[in-house]
This record gives sequence, structure tokens and C-alpha cells, in this order.
Amino acid sequence: MIRRTAGELERMAVAERLFPTGTRAFTFEDDLNFMVARAYGSRLVDGSGNEYIDYLLGSGPHILGHAHPAVLNALAEVGRDGTSHLVIHESAIRLAEKIVEHVPCAEKVSLHNSGSEATFFALRLARAFRGRDKILKFEGGYHGMHDYALMSNQWTMGSPAYPRAVPNTHGIPRSLEAEVLVAPFNDLETTAAIIERHHDELAGVMVEPMQRSFPPHPLFLPGLRAITKNYGIPLIFDEVVTGFRLGLGGAQTRYGVVPDLCTTGKAISGGLPLGVLCGVGEIMELADPRRRLRMLPYTMQTGTYSSNPVCTGVACAVIAELEKGEVYTRMNAVGEALMDGLREAMREVGLSAKVCGDPTVFQIWFTDQEPRDHRSVAQADTLRHMRFSDLLLRAGVLKAAEKFFVSGAHTDDDVAQTLAAFRTAAHQLAEEA
Ligand SMILES: Cc1ncc(COP(=O)(O)O)c(C=O)c1O
Repeated sequence: MIRRTAGELERMAVAERLFPTGTRAFTFEDDLNFMVARAYGSRLVDGSGNEYIDYLLGSGPHILGHAHPAVLNALAEVGRDGTSHLVIHESAIRLAEKIVEHVPCAEKVSLHNSGSEATFFALRLARAFRGRDKILKFEGGYHGMHDYALMSNQWTMGSPAYPRAVPNTHGIPRSLEAEVLVAPFNDLETTAAIIERHHDELAGVMVEPMQRSFPPHPLFLPGLRAITKNYGIPLIFDEVVTGFRLGLGGAQTRYGVVPDLCTTGKAISGGLPLGVLCGVGEIMELADPRRRLRMLPYTMQTGTYSSNPVCTGVACAVIAELEKGEVYTRMNAVGEALMDGLREAMREVGLSAKVCGDPTVFQIWFTDQEPRDHRSVAQADTLRHMRFSDLLLRAGVLKAAEKFFVSGAHTDDDVAQTLAAFRTAAHQLAEEA
């Protein structure tokens, strides 16, 4: 039973007045809106003292759980060296060494402040390398908030003809629509035809190797790798979600396909602002500022806070925890139990639903279609999904609007409570159907 104190309601009213972006609790029933007081391990506590099992995890970063001692200790330690210098700090060098050790495509690294920044710079690098402007992305794929990325993502309505891009927000220059081509994820034939037709205009192909929660068809990524290699077009894996989450080598190791460039961040960030861009030396070295003096193609990709020691020190500490292996074992056990329990709860009450993704990050679709790509779930019942999220929140389980993120801090008790919440919510949904 959720209760709200007058104090929290008053502060929420102030937030509503001051933040046009809203309060971000991903809920549609007013009394469920909350502000965060604190978070620890797998738990998040709101401003009225209600406690939730947290599968939102700040949209993915808290792979170790909230306020993990490794993160808190690193924060205290590296902060003493100063919080930013513009010039490289030892912890940034250590982080780059770790990324090169674990991420198969990484020969060189650049460090940024968010996943959006990393994908933005990846596209700029690809354009500079190829001397062409157009980017190919996949329908339903999300690559952040910049103008090239907010095209034909998961919020795209309708089914425009490929390869036409559809902006997902007002405020994007109309001229950019022509610079982004869109292909269907998991459909190699259509994708190959688009690449063949446009290869001479393409700067790069960017893909989430597991798009949102759609796993790649076994032939899709190898096929994409072969055709991009054939035309010399850089293949960019956006591993902002999958990097260090599907394992230390991310999706590249999981699926055995190595791109030219890769972006990552969330799972190693400890919740601090971090974006990583890495890849083969031949492309990455275009960011070397000495090239400008030699009149060679050069991409600018720095910033005041890039590679600051607080973020890099914390990321090194998170990677050291992940290297021990137990976090992956735990996340997989928890995620498998939750995915099975979710399917079972819906089956029990006769609701059509599909659960897909990886045990460490997965999603439910209220549909009887097999989730394969954006269009395969176009008819899924999103209102029922929202209602499901709200019912879970009432039972003390917080998830992201789309997905469940799992951490190494989720306990057996959390799983038992969550499975009970799944069953109660499923019964309620069936009654309302
Ligand atoms: C696949 C993917 N790429 C890029 C981003 C953008 O990352 P950020 O929110 O750190 O800018 C996200 C964020 O959710 C993402 O899921």
C-alpha cells in the first residue's frame, strides 16, 4: 500500500512547476508519482518512505546495485586528486587499458560524458573517415538524444517506407532527415539491399547488437559485418546497454561479431556521467589533434569534463568488481527466474504475452506475435503494459517504462516478492480485460 506524506506531495508540486521535462517516475496514475529519497543495493526509497525493489536502476547503470561500497570508496579516493583537470589522469589511462583488454574491437579509446555523446562522436568519426555523410540505423533502435539519433526509434508510430527516416521529436532540422537511412532490424535481405543501393553515400552503419530487447537473428550480425566490410563502411555497435552487461566483452563477445567502432557506458559508470567510444586504430586516430597541423582529416571530440578522474576512477572500480564474475552469475540466475515467472504469471491467467531479451535486461510485450523487431510488436497492447507497470509499482516493484534491468544486488527475497507481484498484477489485468 503506497502512502504519500504531505512533505513529499509539496516537494513534488514544486518539481512539477520547475521541471518542464516532468518528474520521470514513468507512471500514469498520479498518486504513484514520487521523488527519490535514497537508494541502496536493490532498493529505492521514495520521499514518503515507501520502498521499492528497483529494476529501473537509473536506466541501467547500477549493475552492482545502488551505493555499492566499491563505487563509494572509489568516489572518495579519486575525488581527493581533484574532480577534473582537462589533462589526462592515471585513472583514465587504467580505464582505457581495461576497455582495450575486454572489448574485442577496442584498440583506442575516447572518453565522454554520456552515451549520447559517444554515439554522436562515433558518427562524426565515421563521416570523417569515409568522407561521406549518410548514416544507416535500424528502425526501433535508440542511440541517444542528439539530432542524428532521434530518428525512427522505438517511439516511431506507423510504418513509413524504408529507408525513410522519421524524426521522433520536433526541433530536428528537416535537412537532417535526408542524412539518415533506416533499415529493419533482423532483416538482412532488406538491409543488404539498402546498403547496396546507397553504399557510395554511406559513412557508417550503427546498430544496437541486441536492439532494445530483441536478440539478433544468428545470421543478422555476421551478415551485416560481411556486407559493411565488403564496402569498407564502418560498422558501429552501440553497446551503451549491452557493453559490460552481457559479459565483460559485451555483445561482441556474446555474438562473436567484431565491429569497427563501439560505444558503451552505462554498466561501468556506477551511475556517474560516462560515455565510451572505442574502436580500431585506423578510424579512432582521426581524433588525434596533431593531424590538424598536418592538414589531415581530423575530428574534434573533446569536452571540459571528458575523462574526468571521478568518472574514470569509479568505472575502474566497477570493472574490477565485474571481473570477479559473481555479479554476472547472480544477474543471470535472478533474470532467468524473473523471465520464467513473468511468462508463467501471464500463462496462468490466459493473457497473451511474450518475454524477450537477456536475463540481465529483458522486456514483456502484450502480444501473441513473436517479438523480432519494431514492426513485429507494433500491435502490442501498450496501455496494458503501462497498467502492468503501475500495478507492479503499487506492489513495491519499480521497472523502467520498457525494460527490467537486473543487478548483482537483487536477492532471493527480491525475486520471491517480485514473482508474487507478477501474479497479483496478472490476475488484476485478466479481470480488467
Ligand atoms: C543503446 C543506447 N544508446 C545510447 C543511449 C544514450 O545514452 P545516454 O542516456 O547516456 O546519453 C542509450 C540510453 O538509454 C541507449 O540505450
